[in-house]
Amino acid sequence: MEPIHLFRPQYRTEEALAEIRECLDEGWTGAGFKTLQFEEAWRRYAGFPHAHFVNSGTAALHLALKLLKERGGWSEEDEVITTPFTFVSTNHVILYERLKPVFADIDDYLCLDPVSVESRITERTRAVCFVGIGGNIGGYRQIRDLCRARGLALILDAAHMAGTWIGSEHAGVDADATAFSFHSVKNLPTADAGLVCFAREDLDREVRQWSWLGIDKDTYTRSVEEAATYRWRYEVRHLGFKYHGNSVMAALALVGLRYLEEDNQRRREIANWYDELLRNMPALTPVPQPDGFRSSRHLYQVMVDRRDEMILGLNRRGIFPGMHYAENTSYAMYGYAEGTCPRAQQAADRILSLPMHLGLTRCGVERIAQALKETMSELLPHY
Ligand SMILES: Cc1ncc(COP(=O)(O)O)c(C=O)c1O
Repeated sequence: MEPIHLFRPQYRTEEALAEIRECLDEGWTGAGFKTLQFEEAWRRYAGFPHAHFVNSGTAALHLALKLLKERGGWSEEDEVITTPFTFVSTNHVILYERLKPVFADIDDYLCLDPVSVESRITERTRAVCFVGIGGNIGGYRQIRDLCRARGLALILDAAHMAGTWIGSEHAGVDADATAFSFHSVKNLPTADAGLVCFAREDLDREVRQWSWLGIDKDTYTRSVEEAATYRWRYEVRHLGFKYHGNSVMAALALVGLRYLEEDNQRRREIANWYDELLRNMPALTPVPQPDGFRSSRHLYQVMVDRRDEMILGLNRRGIFPGMHYAENTSYAMYGYAEGTCPRAQQAADRILSLPMHLGLTRCGVERIAQALKETMSELLPHY
């Protein structure tokens, strides 16, 4: 029987090739051209006032933190409250800026718990970094209000949230900075790319220099918009990074964006099948979703007993799920905070991500549910 994998990105190959062909015909594969088209398309789709296309979600997060730190006059060792239940990029970027990640615990949604966040605020706290795990918004709205009340910057790691809507607003429109990932397995897959959306216009202007080594004029502007004379002279004001995106990735992103709503609708349909077929299954609890939002459904996660053995049992039946995430304080890098987030630790032992991609059919989801049942009755015969 065909194996069913956790992710299998789907590209509209002919459309993507046509969009990439334009870059090749134009003789422009770098930053500019399609990256500008994508930024415009994203602003129109999601309603962010600003958007800058970069080469990864990690770069987007780093730039978000870097610019908020520079602009806010934060000092080294100032604190950023963050989650231990995430991909390490979220926390590495805090250390890149020599700030201190202070871990708060998570709630039932696997996102930062607003009560725990509030308890970790000190005089040195400058920002909160919220991660919408799997597209879930958890207590984002409470944390946004808390940040406003306490004068803290709010960064949304929206790596899983392309196409997550809270009422009529895209998630993150109300944050100081929101970072998206268009990594190869995300809802809007390219090969590697990301997007940073600042609320402030001046930061959006500046980030374009920071992502291009601190150079004050990009090559596209110099060679296309100032084409009469390719102006070679530029100024370098910052020790910037080589983080800008390119037109080939933006071409893939432009095509993906056209289908994002339709694709996420399909993901929500798959999630509904899971909800229906896993209802009342013993020793298995789907991660809840709060009211009042529409998830991108990047992941469908459940809590299970004896998770590691469950994975092996599923693998024997041709099902290959995933695990998001190991609790970050269990890594040597973040070991200083081990034991401070007991709920995250418990969740990391039980969490399982079931296959979630556009190639899944109702029949596939039934097969997965059956495999879960069989594995569970092998492992937990008393159920
Ligand atoms: C929660 C989270 N944050 C950040 C990232 C980093 O994104 P990228 O792989 O595009 O650098 C990822 C993706 O891998 C992620 O899942």
